Amino acid sequence: MENSKNTKILLANAYGPAEVLEFQDYELGELPAGFARIRVKAAGINPIDARRMTGEFKHAALPQTFGTEYSGEIIDVAANPQGFTVGDAVLGSGGAFTHATVIDVPIANLVRKPESISWEVAGTLAGVAQTAMTILDEIGPGKSLLIHGASGGVGSITVQLAKERGMDVVGTASSRNLAYLEGLGATAVEYGEGLQGRLQEVHPEPFDIAVDMVGTEEAIQASLATVKSDGVIATIAGKPTSSNRVVPIWVKRNPKNLQYVVDGVASGKFNWEVDSVFPFENAAEAYEKILKGHTRGKIALVF
Ligand SMILES: NC(=O)c1ccc[n+]([C@@H]2O[C@H](COP(=O)([O-])OP(=O)(O)OC[C@H]3O[C@@H](n4cnc5c(N)ncnc54)[C@H](OP(=O)(O)O)[C@@H]3O)[C@@H](O)[C@H]2O)c1
Repeated sequence: MENSKNTKILLANAYGPAEVLEFQDYELGELPAGFARIRVKAAGINPIDARRMTGEFKHAALPQTFGTEYSGEIIDVAANPQGFTVGDAVLGSGGAFTHATVIDVPIANLVRKPESISWEVAGTLAGVAQTAMTILDEIGPGKSLLIHGASGGVGSITVQLAKERGMDVVGTASSRNLAYLEGLGATAVEYGEGLQGRLQEVHPEPFDIAVDMVGTEEAIQASLATVKSDGVIATIAGKPTSSNRVVPIWVKRNPKNLQYVVDGVASGKFNWEVDSVFPFENAAEAYEKILKGHTRGKIALVF
């Protein structure tokens, strides 16, 4: 067993731009029952990390730590009936602490990393996979789905899961990402002025469902104009909306849902793109990038 209680964690003592991020060395305590100690190899950044950094969301007292997903190697593990042992490659999601070199996570949340996927891919799947599966469960059945912001992390996997369920999917993105979106199986439409007309051109029938992943007024207005009157309009953006027709959806963590997406990516059924990779030491640069809101797929920190 590797004897490492030493970890370096990313934290912030104030809200603000990426300059507030700092590193701190920390010594972990004894590994609790039911937990595994992981040497992190890669960890995705989600917009929520950066939005917590700026103070848009104040989920925790300062100083706060970051990161909700990871891939890595088990370096210590409590007794467990699942058969996890030191040296196993795993991935999963955690609270807000995975942007650190060594982390303790509940064994119940571990998923084995398939050999066919890289650490970067494995470390960026947990948040989006569980969010996309939650979305599809909560919007219910429908034949047609409009996704605003479909080329981002959550959108990329939601498009593919919805296509797998036989839905007709239209997604919005900028011109840079239209071909990428078409490659995932969506009909791609450029957002911006005239969006409603372009949507009606490619999909003359009203949509059954729209999901907003950007939180813009444009997305809400286009949904109100193109979704049938008894259809569903949902948002995951966590921003105030101008219409009480818009239903918020929040991720529900479920390792079985994560396993489903991991298996699909490992077998090649689902495409998964890592937009860019940053060394952990350059986390501030990665946080600045995600704040700009134009990630294709995901951003990964590597350790
Ligand atoms: N409710 C929950 O439980 C939950 C869970 C996960 C995420 N979220 C939230 O959901 C949102 C999406 O997350 P994510 O990880 O998918 O984000 P992301 O990866 O950062 O999304 C970036 C994508 O948004 C597109 N985009 C930017 N401006 C747009 C616009 N005006 N119209 C349409 N598309 C636009 C970009 O396309 P271009 O580069 O082509 O512009 C880019 O591909 C975030 O606000 C996040 O905080 C919520």
